[in-house]
Amino acid sequence: MENRAGYHVAVLGATGAVGREMVRTLERHAFPVASLRLLASPRSAGTLLPFSGEQLRVEAVNEHSFDGVDLALFSAGGSASRQWAPVAVNAGCVVIDNSSAFRMEPDVPLIVPEVNGADLGHHHGLIANPNCSTAQLVLALEPLKQRFGLHRVIVSTYQAVSGSGQRAIDELEHQLQAWVRGESVAPAVLPVADAAVHYPIALNVLPQIDHFLADGFTKEEEKMQNETQKILHAPRLAVSATCVRVPVVRGHSESVYVELEEPAEIPEIRDALRAFPTVVVEDDPDEQRYPYPLMCAGREETFVGRLRRDRYEERGIHFWIVSDNLLRGAASNAVAIAETWAEAVHG
Ligand SMILES: NC(=O)c1ccc[n+]([C@@H]2O[C@H](COP(=O)([O-])OP(=O)(O)OC[C@H]3O[C@@H](n4cnc5c(N)ncnc54)[C@H](OP(=O)(O)O)[C@@H]3O)[C@@H](O)[C@H]2O)c1
Repeated sequence: MENRAGYHVAVLGATGAVGREMVRTLERHAFPVASLRLLASPRSAGTLLPFSGEQLRVEAVNEHSFDGVDLALFSAGGSASRQWAPVAVNAGCVVIDNSSAFRMEPDVPLIVPEVNGADLGHHHGLIANPNCSTAQLVLALEPLKQRFGLHRVIVSTYQAVSGSGQRAIDELEHQLQAWVRGESVAPAVLPVADAAVHYPIALNVLPQIDHFLADGFTKEEEKMQNETQKILHAPRLAVSATCVRVPVVRGHSESVYVELEEPAEIPEIRDALRAFPTVVVEDDPDEQRYPYPLMCAGREETFVGRLRRDRYEERGIHFWIVSDNLLRGAASNAVAIAETWAEAVHG
């Protein structure tokens, strides 16, 4: 489509769980799109996807896909990003990449706009979007860092299957339908699609996201550590994660323990979180109020609840974070980066 003033935009991975949300988010945010090119692999070339009242045809990505494109949102996995990001950047396009391929490269800014949008000033055509679990974590940590300082962070995640893409959503649905019929289907996607062994996710919980490293942590857990340190500009902050897949379609939850540099009262902590953009405090034990995934699905904010002081460590606090992984953790963070970039470039 081509009909308005604005930016020529491409979405690579447009048929995926995140890519579809990127297209919807561009429309919902009224991002100034002059033309939109939807790209994927040859498998889904010809698929029609709606955007702004039109049906757009998905094209197989090729060497000329980024000619004349100002801005590309990538969400097609690490190997596609490694193949196509240099092509797009050479064509003069700014790439916002959702994969983990470039996140830790020193000259690639890794951005959650509310936290470190200022880092966007230093990009060389490539900007990275963090891991979904990291994006929501840093949004809750940054206001605490600003007011009280951070000493250490221990986080356990409860991650939705959509974090592993459309095939994992389909796998949960098929397993649940089979369970209702009293049948079973062999798992093939989770915990890790390219692993030798798969386990059921319906009515189950899997303490593995991504492959294991030599010290027993997984790559997902390492990403949470490294990306949190990079986004918060806190390279020595101790961040330890345990990442767990749960049979939820949409919305990652996190149980977080933080030791602050300075002791703080819970009302002060609530105020600091409330004052931070896009963070919503949903926390009232008397009214049984706290965030949960079905409440947060489809929302772009990050919800925090269950705030309480540790009973043993004066500087220790516990809380619970929930956010829509396909939005805050992916599509709407990418579009927010695009908006920050557009504002910086053209005012
Ligand atoms: N899901 C999340 O919450 C989340 C959060 C943050 C980051 N991410 C990252 O976002 C990326 C996509 O995740 P997803 O959950 O949307 O996965 P998905 O549902 O499996 O979708 C993958 C998309 O990439 C396309 N694709 C795959 N290989 C390609 C290739 N070689 N060339 C061109 N297109 C290709 C697919 O096209 P076809 O339809 O043609 O196969 C599809 O559009 C991953 O890097 C993931 O780590 C995901």
